[in-house]
Amino acid sequence: MNPEFWQARWQDKRTGFNQPEVNPLLTKYLTALNLPSGSRVFVPLCGKSIDMIWLASQGYDVVGVELVESAVQAFFTENDISPKVTEHTNSPNNKCYQGQILGQTIELWAADLFALTPENLGQIDAVYDRAALIALPAEMRLKYSEQVWHLSRNISVDVSGNAPQILLTLNYDQSERNGPPFSISSEQVQQYYGSHYKITELEGKPSILNAAPELAVTEHVWLLSE
Ligand SMILES: C[S@@+](CC[C@H](N)C(=O)[O-])C[C@H]1O[C@@H](n2cnc3c(N)ncnc32)[C@H](O)[C@@H]1O
Repeated sequence: MNPEFWQARWQDKRTGFNQPEVNPLLTKYLTALNLPSGSRVFVPLCGKSIDMIWLASQGYDVVGVELVESAVQAFFTENDISPKVTEHTNSPNNKCYQGQILGQTIELWAADLFALTPENLGQIDAVYDRAALIALPAEMRLKYSEQVWHLSRNISVDVSGNAPQILLTLNYDQSERNGPPFSISSEQVQQYYGSHYKITELEGKPSILNAAPELAVTEHVWLLSE
């Protein structure tokens, strides 16, 4: 899953992962994060997800990171927001698009997640991962989870400094189908995040993968806290 893979997906409009409606598991479980209004929510590998508009409607600022710049531009165009664009000369591939909607700020970095620093993103109060961890093959996931933790670690949030996270995963027989989205077991969630967080499963339920409707799939909601 190199950058060219994702560039081609967006260029060819093979973006079946993009949801037309706000994710119901986000609306159901956001309160588990206990966030005061005005908090900044980090959405790694954000695409042009409409969930970010919903987060703004709930009184939160959003910081997203998306590799493909055309996806970032589509997000602002489709939601009728005029962003201010800042080029970061110290890392020429990083551009920051920042716009206002519903009284909140949405800041999307057109950048490789692995090229960013905590200083780039600033204060992060919580993380929302939908179709990000599960978009990556097994060999990239530990590097990804460590980077998300590193970027969202704030000493001011709580004693541990960890911003809490809502993580959505899918589980199915990986031998039946290759990803993305990839299957992730509860043991793997532990492997990726267990050394930094207390992990609680909030829900697990049967689901359907549109690209393979015959597959037996379950969807899981995890709260990463402390
Ligand atoms: C499966 S999509 C999910 C998008 C979004 N979370 C959603 O729910 O619609 C994964 C996204 O991650 C982006 N991506 C992949 N690798 C990335 C990286 N290293 N840094 C930033 N974005 C990346 C892809 O371009 C793609 O838009």
